[in-house]
Amino acid sequence: MVGEFEQIYQQSLAQPEAFWAAAADDIDWFKKWDRVKDDDNPPFYRWFVGGRTNTAYNALDRHIAAGRGDQAALIYDSPVTDTVSRISYTELRDRVAKFAGALRDLGVGYGDRVIIYLPMIPEAVVAMLATARIGAVHSVVFGGFAPNELATRIDDCTPKCIVTASCGIEPGRVIAYKPLVDAAIELSTHQPDHCVVLQRPMVAAAMTPQRDLDWVQIEAAAAPADCVEVAATDPCYILYTSGTTGEPKGVVRDTGGHLVALKWSMSNIYGVNPGDVFWAASDVGWVVGHSYIVYAPLFHGCTSVLFEGKPVGTPDAGTFWRVIAEHNVAVMFTAPTAIRAIKKEDPDGKLLEKYDLGQFRAQFLAGERCDPDTLEWCQKHLGVPTVDHWWQTETGWPIVSNCLGIEMLPIKPGSPTRPVPGWHVQVVDPAGDPLAADEIGAIVIKLPLPPGSLPTLWQKDQRFIDSYLAEYPGYYQTGDAGMIDADGYLHVMSRTDDIINVAGHRLSTGGMEEVLSAHSDVAECAVIGVADALKGQVPLGFLVLKDGADKDDAAIVAEVVQMVRDRIGPVAAFKLACVVQRLPKTRSGKILRGTMKKIADCEAYKMPATIDDPAILEEITQALQTIGFAGPGT
Ligand code: COA
Ligand code: AMP
Repeated sequence: MVGEFEQIYQQSLAQPEAFWAAAADDIDWFKKWDRVKDDDNPPFYRWFVGGRTNTAYNALDRHIAAGRGDQAALIYDSPVTDTVSRISYTELRDRVAKFAGALRDLGVGYGDRVIIYLPMIPEAVVAMLATARIGAVHSVVFGGFAPNELATRIDDCTPKCIVTASCGIEPGRVIAYKPLVDAAIELSTHQPDHCVVLQRPMVAAAMTPQRDLDWVQIEAAAAPADCVEVAATDPCYILYTSGTTGEPKGVVRDTGGHLVALKWSMSNIYGVNPGDVFWAASDVGWVVGHSYIVYAPLFHGCTSVLFEGKPVGTPDAGTFWRVIAEHNVAVMFTAPTAIRAIKKEDPDGKLLEKYDLGQFRAQFLAGERCDPDTLEWCQKHLGVPTVDHWWQTETGWPIVSNCLGIEMLPIKPGSPTRPVPGWHVQVVDPAGDPLAADEIGAIVIKLPLPPGSLPTLWQKDQRFIDSYLAEYPGYYQTGDAGMIDADGYLHVMSRTDDIINVAGHRLSTGGMEEVLSAHSDVAECAVIGVADALKGQVPLGFLVLKDGADKDDAAIVAEVVQMVRDRIGPVAAFKLACVVQRLPKTRSGKILRGTMKKIADCEAYKMPATIDDPAILEEITQALQTIGFAGPGT
């Protein structure tokens, strides 16, 4: 007998238009679409062409009209400020409408961009929804990025306005945000007209007259703005993510497809009902935060938890369980790193005994490969299904997952299960031919991608084609390698490019190499991701110095570490580097990063047949010993 999941999956591929049209009936449209899928201009595809709607309307107003006005839309739980507050759908809509009015008064309108650089506070959600309410396009930048990264985004999306706060709070320290924003504006060519600043009580931001405006004052003075009708194909947001170079990719999310796919995912993948409490412990600066802290839970009429804290240290490794118990969380989503951090401090899950998790139904994990130990720890201690699922900033929602709302399939540790309805996933060889079961190759997705996935990169159609579509015509290249087993389960093994995953955060080693190369004493360099017991991977740099460099090696290493922190940000967690005489290369000059990674990870490796000089590998081992690096976790 064909299971329910299999039937739905097959229907989604055989009749995508009927499938997604049915899902789109779950969304409020001001005008229904004329065509579900427009494939007149491949490789560009558009969904729900002719449809008109508004993202903020579907997140807030429609639920108030349906009687959910008094239900909490957000629970703000902030152990770092010792605050817990609940914001109802009506209260959130009213704040969003007023702030939307304030943005409109600043000249922000349909299609204009707004950069949001805020910590995990309710105002981040207000700013995102207010932007969407007036048909503008937001680009949220994660607070752990340095001014230079912010400046790159300012120049790429040319915002009329930047919305920020005086500070963010990391355990044990307050980070003043406004000087970072000021420095970014100083570095960028494009100059925003205004900067709206929320003054938090811990730090007062210095304001530049005329340009900078106080959030509270402009919100109080504004009249509420109504929802602006936009086309389903209009962008809702741009989210920058690491590419293989230092220049980030501006992933565009459209309006209609995003609404339809995210709403569908809540009931079908996460098995969540309207009214349930859903918690994604991530940050609004990442795609997980966009999709599953802000948009999907609100599109679905859920209560979303906005957590300003860490899995450990705020105040202890029981915080996650406290939040689940205190707020009756039904389904939670976090990164395996967070669980590893908890497991390290509380290996036997003793802190769990303090809390009643009776309402808790499922734990979802994503953002990086989920090691079987972490999955098994969750299964053993949480007593609910633990679901590893795989997706990317580009796709906006899960590609491969156990769909708890359809039919729970058996869990295989090490695999995020099977492709979700709508996603035609294949594993191919370098020529693009499908591989047999259990054979490792590039993971690709047949075009067109389903609704909600990226239609293009912001104002860079050619880069979109070059980055994702050119190598395997007719397919989207995910940049991940893996295999599909005989049961149709996908196993994601590694990236095929220079992207590494540090604590669930995606970073470009190419971008770090650009920073190291800018040091005046560095002739050549390579950055690789090495295994780390807590963060999954951490970056490690190798530096070849110019002849005549007169500082000692340790001083140069300290300087490049600081440079990466200053130019990319603390989130890069770049703390390890060593000096070598030369880098191992092939005879044609390609740096053998894979072999260097194996040496650093203490894994067996084969001597590459094309290596220029095998003796260099011994030098790499010695250089690692010199800095006391002896393998994963040291
Ligand atoms: N603003 C400013 N700085 C920030 C920041 C922010 N929003 N977020 C992180 N940073 C800084 C941290 O303070 C740290 O700085 P440091 O080098 O001075 O210590 C650095 O960036 C790295 O941060 P982080 O990755 O959080 O590492 P950590 O060592 O402080 O904490 C964990 C380790 C495991 C607790 C943490 O990585 C974690 O919570 N991981 C889960 C990740 C996650 O949820 N990812 C979401 C993807 S789904
Ligand atoms: P990001 O765009 O930041 O969400 O990062 C996406 C990348 O993270 C993917 O391309 C994978 O390399 C990795 N990733 C995310 N989730 C998983 C997972 N469940 N298993 C393995 N890798 C994952």
